[in-house]
Amino acid sequence: VYEHLTFGDRPHLSIASLPGMRERTVVISSAAKTFNVTGWKTGWACGPEPLIDGVRAAKQFMTFVAGGPFQPAVAYALEHEQEWVLRSRDSFDARRELLNSTLVGLGLDVTRCDGSYFICADVTSLGAADAMKFCRELPGRIGVAAVPVSVFTDNTGPWESFVRFTFCKSVETMREGVARLARLS
Ligand SMILES: Cc1ncc(COP(=O)(O)O)c(C=O)c1O
Repeated sequence: VYEHLTFGDRPHLSIASLPGMRERTVVISSAAKTFNVTGWKTGWACGPEPLIDGVRAAKQFMTFVAGGPFQPAVAYALEHEQEWVLRSRDSFDARRELLNSTLVGLGLDVTRCDGSYFICADVTSLGAADAMKFCRELPGRIGVAAVPVSVFTDNTGPWESFVRFTFCKSVETMREGVARLARLS
């Protein structure tokens, strides 16, 4: 879903484009991130017919269809709004830079973000070896929310001091957020 939200010179590479993979790959994506419509729940699956038959059978017994009226809007956007997508990507890139430089400025060990709208950072240097505790306290301390990376894995060991921050908020909210984060120094 982040295939258009990539930064620098590292474009998204679809597995289906690799030699011999097209016939055995289902490419799945959604409008949520590309068109900034996370509430719409409208996506698509592309692949060879026998595989898509299986996807349709499963979907039929799950949600059947969601947000039908959004589908023509997404189809239109996919065909006619690629320039908007590029502008949106550039805007995210600027917010990525703002958040990244703030976290680096705080002395955190920041993982490079080449795609998506998340930046992960090790918060040990802030005296917080337990990212879960750090994230529970952060709203009360400075009015900022972040997510401990450990909630995304069963193998929590290597991630216990890592926090995921996002830069998907408006420019004004991001400016306020980084100003508040700066108080952690
Ligand atoms: C990797 C990934 N896939 C899918 C989704 C959800 O997409 P949608 O809102 O269109 O269901 C998200 C959003 O949180 C995501 O990060």
